[in-house]
Amino acid sequence: MAKSSPSFFSILITATFLLLASVLTKGVEGTIGVNYGTLADNLPPPSKVAHFLQDSTIINRVRLFDAEPDILEAFAHTGIALTVTVPNHHIPNLTNLSFAQQWLEDYVQPYIPATNVVRILVGNEVLSTANKSLIVGLVPAMQTLQTALVGASLDRRIQISTPHSLGILSASSPPSNGNFRQGYDTHVLKPLLSFHRATNSPFMVNPYPFFECSTDTLDYALFRPNSGVFDENTKLLYTNMLDAQLDAVYSAMKLLGFDDLEIVIAETGWPSLGDSDQIGVDANSAAEYNGNLMRHVQSGVGTPLMPNRTFETYIFSLFNEDLKPGPTWERNFGLFQPNMTPVYDIGILRSTAAAAANPNLHHVICLLAISVGVLILNNHG
Ligand SMILES: *[C@@H]1O[C@H](CO)[C@@H](O)[C@H](O)[C@H]1NC(C)=O
Ligand SMILES: *[C@@H]1O[C@H](CO)[C@@H](O)[C@H](O)[C@H]1NC(C)=O
Ligand SMILES: *[C@@H]1O[C@H](CO)[C@@H](O)[C@H](O)[C@H]1NC(C)=O
Ligand SMILES: *[C@@H]1O[C@H](CO)[C@@H](O)[C@H](O)[C@H]1NC(C)=O
Repeated sequence: MAKSSPSFFSILITATFLLLASVLTKGVEGTIGVNYGTLADNLPPPSKVAHFLQDSTIINRVRLFDAEPDILEAFAHTGIALTVTVPNHHIPNLTNLSFAQQWLEDYVQPYIPATNVVRILVGNEVLSTANKSLIVGLVPAMQTLQTALVGASLDRRIQISTPHSLGILSASSPPSNGNFRQGYDTHVLKPLLSFHRATNSPFMVNPYPFFECSTDTLDYALFRPNSGVFDENTKLLYTNMLDAQLDAVYSAMKLLGFDDLEIVIAETGWPSLGDSDQIGVDANSAAEYNGNLMRHVQSGVGTPLMPNRTFETYIFSLFNEDLKPGPTWERNFGLFQPNMTPVYDIGILRSTAAAAANPNLHHVICLLAISVGVLILNNHG
């Protein structure tokens, strides 16, 4: 009995240090968002998803492509910051204040504050639809919904925005040449950017280096070591494609006088499976892109034109979605399989997150814990 007590004591000390290691390294987590798409017939029920995210991952922001009541209810009391979307087809009606108020009453008000709804997106990639009634209605719809929010005293809790594809740019290379498409620039984007400034809400974009890259630029797209791309105008060197895309957006905003606004990455990602032998479409490349992305946007390094910034970022997507049309890779952007097993590991699970967030600190403290344990054992032996 007496002989076993030193080892018990050392185990206790070791356990204490290991606990300390996980607590200390947890603070480095930052904020990670995912897009929770549901174009699948095999996904777990929303309540299971919400608790899985809360209990087993470091994901603390979720964006929905809709405002499904079941999902809003499922995220109650999880603390996860939820972004919901008014689908594109509602935009013309949303310019009607009664409709906007009704939408809020039906889809948001019943679920807050238990569910932490922080943002409402009016449509998705609306300018790319080429549908005139949607495009013309976009900013008025956002303004009307804002009026409804103010009326319900929710404007301090909830922001309004809308995500854009990079198709809104007519030029993006080099990044300092970034320019919005003519016609959209003054008629839609200028009032939109004014809305963001007035309501202190972010401009949201969906940059996908995956869609822009070729065999020659794969390393540049995946944040691997590469020789970079030099911007002659600014004399700045770009070492990854995401920075170049974000700076092209920034340059376009600056041309209209809106370089002070926050930019949020509403969607970005990389598929883990494609058809036959597509280069760079595999689980390792997807893990590299999303892992490097997470570290980069949280690092505080920023981009060449936006130094020291961090970017709120939503990885596309939470699950592989079997009902998405198109080539194989469309259905394989997920971080997780529908049964909630990871497709690859990028340190998003709580069990591996601390080590991934700060491997050095974690290793030092673990080594320390084991040394102290051994020391105590020896002293008693
Ligand atoms: C544009 O969108 C509206 C609203 O969804 C829809 O009623 C209309 O048919 C669309 N127009 C075109 C040309 O697709
Ligand atoms: C828009 O409003 C009209 C009239 O209130 C209604 O008939 C129509 O179904 C609405 N459209 C959508 C997409 O909700
Ligand atoms: C505005 O929306 C309300 C509520 O949905 C509806 O009853 C009304 O007919 C709409 N008005 C117009 C002009 O579409
Ligand atoms: C970014 O941070 C560096 C190092 O702290 C500092 O020297 C620099 O002035 C900052 N740049 C901007 C634009 O804030």
